[in-house]
Amino acid sequence: MYQVNENYLKLPGSYLFSTIGKKVNAFAEANPDKEILRLGIGDVTQPLCPAVIEALHKAVDEMADPATFRGYAPDLGYDFLRNTIVEKDYKARGCDISPDEIFVSDGAKSDSGNIQEIFGACSKIAVCDPVYPVYVDSNVMAGRTGIYDAEAETWSDVIYMPTTKENGFVPEKPEKRPDLIYLCLPNNPTGTTLTKAQLQEWVDYANKEEAVIIFDAAYEAYIAEDDVPHSIYECDGARTCAIEIRSFSKNAGFTGLRLGFTVVPKDLKAGDVCLRDLWARRHGTKFNGAPYIVQRAGEAVYSPEGKAQTDEQIAYYMRNASVIRNGLLDAGYEVFGGINAPYIWMKTPDGMKSWDFFDHLLENANVVGTPGSGFGPSGEGYFRLTAFGTYENSVAALERIKAL
Ligand code: MLT
Repeated sequence: MYQVNENYLKLPGSYLFSTIGKKVNAFAEANPDKEILRLGIGDVTQPLCPAVIEALHKAVDEMADPATFRGYAPDLGYDFLRNTIVEKDYKARGCDISPDEIFVSDGAKSDSGNIQEIFGACSKIAVCDPVYPVYVDSNVMAGRTGIYDAEAETWSDVIYMPTTKENGFVPEKPEKRPDLIYLCLPNNPTGTTLTKAQLQEWVDYANKEEAVIIFDAAYEAYIAEDDVPHSIYECDGARTCAIEIRSFSKNAGFTGLRLGFTVVPKDLKAGDVCLRDLWARRHGTKFNGAPYIVQRAGEAVYSPEGKAQTDEQIAYYMRNASVIRNGLLDAGYEVFGGINAPYIWMKTPDGMKSWDFFDHLLENANVVGTPGSGFGPSGEGYFRLTAFGTYENSVAALERIKAL
């Protein structure tokens, strides 16, 4: 009899957002008359902007013409997109990144799940707690996380770095030395950030400990404050210790189109092994390139029109964030995030458990959010609302929450 990858059997429950989806569908089926407002998963609601749509149409027409038809995309991405990314995302911020260090992909979720493959099976991972579940789950699948303690909801071989209101959502350096440190900033789920000086400390720490930071910057477009870095490469020394992952989902609404990229600097080396070359090898073997049409759409995000139009969408979502944040504050809740990120992280009332508050909100306000404990044990007693809904739904959801 063949054998399965038994690491998969260790995974508790289903993926967080699948569990929520099932619960909400069951509630909707049992209550067909109720209008449910969904502020759970961070999925965008605004359509793709005109500059992106125009680029898509143009690229589709090119694919219909034998003279401009394209087959397989270069597996690391088209030069037109990689060059644009370097100019607009990195050079413009004073970061020293070259096009052959950019790997275009079908999104940040895939990259953040796959990147662990280029590291040794015994690598110790450190994650913030709460954390985007993909980082831990993908390491569970790879057999790197040890034994699961169902009561504590922790893995024996994962180093957890709590980020709570007590430490101002700033992870502390772990007592045990990690090999891989996952940092998502602006943070999903807490919506909080680090200053440049705080991130610099992490870069210095990683260089000193010969660890790698996997820096998920999917929400960088939402940064409003000056002292918050958009890229880890704004910090000195990051080229020798950091991989950065970016997404087009949140800044330009590509959740259904799929596009992202990962930066692996050539200076990032384990001895004389260049991690960039390993990722290039992995990418070349397992990936056939993001579609030409989608890469052209990605390029359009950086055009003057695309930039102005996507900035407007970001402002739209951040108006929702203010509505949610201020509404919760008015109603007496303790609230975090929502200033440099499209997530609002709140304390549940009266010490309620996160999943109990989820049920309470769904049943009594017909509003869906995400239980903090779904992101890790330190998320217990917290709850996340997303600003990616429509303005009308954000306002309506807050009216209902205030009326509880
Ligand atoms: C979230 O809600 O945390 C995100 O939408 C998940 C994702 O981007 O994969």
